[in-house]
Amino acid sequence: MAILVTGGSGYIGSVTVECLLAKGEQVVVLDDLARGHRAALPADIPLYQGKTGDRELVARIAREHTLDSCIHFAALIEVGESVLDPAKYFENNVGHGIALIGELIRAGVRDFVFSSTAAVYGDPEQIPIPEESRKWPRRPYGWSKQFIEQLLAAYDTAYGMKFIALRYFNAAGATEKCGEDHRPESHLIPNVLAAALGLQKMIRVFGNNYPTPDGTPIRDYIHVADLAEAHIRALDHLRSGGHSDYLNLGTGKGYSVLEVINCAREVTGRDIPVQIEPPRPGDPARLIADHTKAASLLGWEPVKSDLRSMVQSAWNWRHLHPNGYNGS
Ligand SMILES: NC(=O)c1ccc[n+]([C@@H]2O[C@H](COP(=O)([O-])OP(=O)(O)OC[C@H]3O[C@@H](n4cnc5c(N)ncnc54)[C@H](O)[C@@H]3O)[C@@H](O)[C@H]2O)c1
Repeated sequence: MAILVTGGSGYIGSVTVECLLAKGEQVVVLDDLARGHRAALPADIPLYQGKTGDRELVARIAREHTLDSCIHFAALIEVGESVLDPAKYFENNVGHGIALIGELIRAGVRDFVFSSTAAVYGDPEQIPIPEESRKWPRRPYGWSKQFIEQLLAAYDTAYGMKFIALRYFNAAGATEKCGEDHRPESHLIPNVLAAALGLQKMIRVFGNNYPTPDGTPIRDYIHVADLAEAHIRALDHLRSGGHSDYLNLGTGKGYSVLEVINCAREVTGRDIPVQIEPPRPGDPARLIADHTKAASLLGWEPVKSDLRSMVQSAWNWRHLHPNGYNGS
């Protein structure tokens, strides 16, 4: 039986593919390569280049492989872009998602792992954030994920599709083979490392007057390899007849923007110039996961997610690939 991995040439997808293959799983990738990288995947992997919303293509993949499950990473992920062009986000993340899930159900696939996000919580009511907190995203990106979460609940009731929706906090770090190369890149650690390499002049810090010890916002970073392991366990849970659920993936510990920059200065031994800018509207001071549910349901604990390991692994990868996958 094969696992369909959508978005498998992207950052988290490619690391998860690497881990699935290492466990001897059969993997088929569907990716439009619009924001992913062919070089992030092994040359011999079955790769279908196309959209998750292409029903004929999804049906063909299901005919050509015996799929038992799907891990659905494929989405547009830029929060700011989703504000400027919400139609693009709803069409891609929701519209294509609906078509994909519909075709999978038609093909008899019943186990579905979904990449959701901490953005479904919007402004958190409590820290650390438990799964049952109010879900009220602030931006179209978060709504596009929240919509699919709701759809999955309804499809479970009506059609028996079982799912685990994994709400990631901030993915970070790299394996030896696969690293973070988003274009555009809005995530802190790759931008800090680009500044360390002199590829950008400085790192812009949005706000230093938040109610946190150093005034900069605190986020919960999770190593991408820990994320990948959680997907594999979520799939095992579903394959062994487990129930559908929503799980936070974070560490329960946060680091401020300045802590991340200082760590990168230590790891790289380079100067990283900082420019303080006004805070971005809607950026909460702290986003930290309560991950106890993932720990109890999946027996999962982050083991690589201390800040130094994440920054060091990202630096090792970036150092080998200063131009990202373009230079691979
Ligand atoms: N990176 C993070 O910190 C983070 C945090 C929370 C949630 N997530 C979610 O995790 C998933 C993966 O994130 P990532 O950082 O690896 O993103 P990414 O952009 O690196 O990977 C996404 C991949 O999906 C592909 N894709 C997008 N829409 C598609 C479509 N309609 N059909 C086929 N392929 C399509 C892209 O080309 C890309 O290869 C996303 O769903 C994202 O919303 C990521």
